[in-house]
Amino acid sequence: MSAIISPSLLSADFANLEKDINMINQSQADWLHIDVMDGVFVPNISFGFPVLDSIKDKCQKPLDVHLMIVEPDKFITRFAEAGAAIINVHYEACTHLHRTIQLIKSTGAKAAVTLNPHTPVCLLEDIITEVDMVLLMSVNPGFGGQKFIANTTQKVRDLKALIASKNAHAIIEVDGGVNLETGKELVEAGADALVAGNFVFKSANPTETIAQLKALGNRQ
Ligand code: DX5
Ligand code: ZN
Repeated sequence: MSAIISPSLLSADFANLEKDINMINQSQADWLHIDVMDGVFVPNISFGFPVLDSIKDKCQKPLDVHLMIVEPDKFITRFAEAGAAIINVHYEACTHLHRTIQLIKSTGAKAAVTLNPHTPVCLLEDIITEVDMVLLMSVNPGFGGQKFIANTTQKVRDLKALIASKNAHAIIEVDGGVNLETGKELVEAGADALVAGNFVFKSANPTETIAQLKALGNRQ
């Protein structure tokens, strides 16, 4: 079974977003990953509601929204209205994560929790049965084009074991520095979904690059 591929819009051409959305629509991409940054949780600001509102009717793939923001509860309903099919909140940004997860589910969106590279998988022990997905950061969030942190592969294995031990159904997504080499390693370790920004959008043929990532999936 092949992995879910979620190209990251952060690396797209913002002067010509429609062209890149059309490319995504025609490609084998499963989702479109949307990185929202507030300049507080991460040292960068990306984009917000006007961009989502503009693309939600044009993009035929589910929007996989990654909130790198503090106090995400304030905006979850608004992100659902802006077309988010999956809402990822950071473990490190949520004081009352259980409440936040329930809030996401109440909008009808899938609920996902994201871990920074330094946050251990074992902290999810008491929430894993509640979430639809765990997003493991394989770079420090804030920027595209960074180097993959190798320890993530072991985190995928640890998370897979935690999910099995709790009889949970969460899937595993990985974000940051994904290319054909790191992607293969991650899929073999048990990753279900891969985010790729620079590797897709800065390649000579993004549609073909997405197809190559899609072909990685020889996982059992
Ligand atoms: C980083 C973002 C990523 C980023 C990945 O903070 O969460 O989604 O776009 O970009 P690449 O694939 O270039 O590392
Ligand atoms: Zn992301």
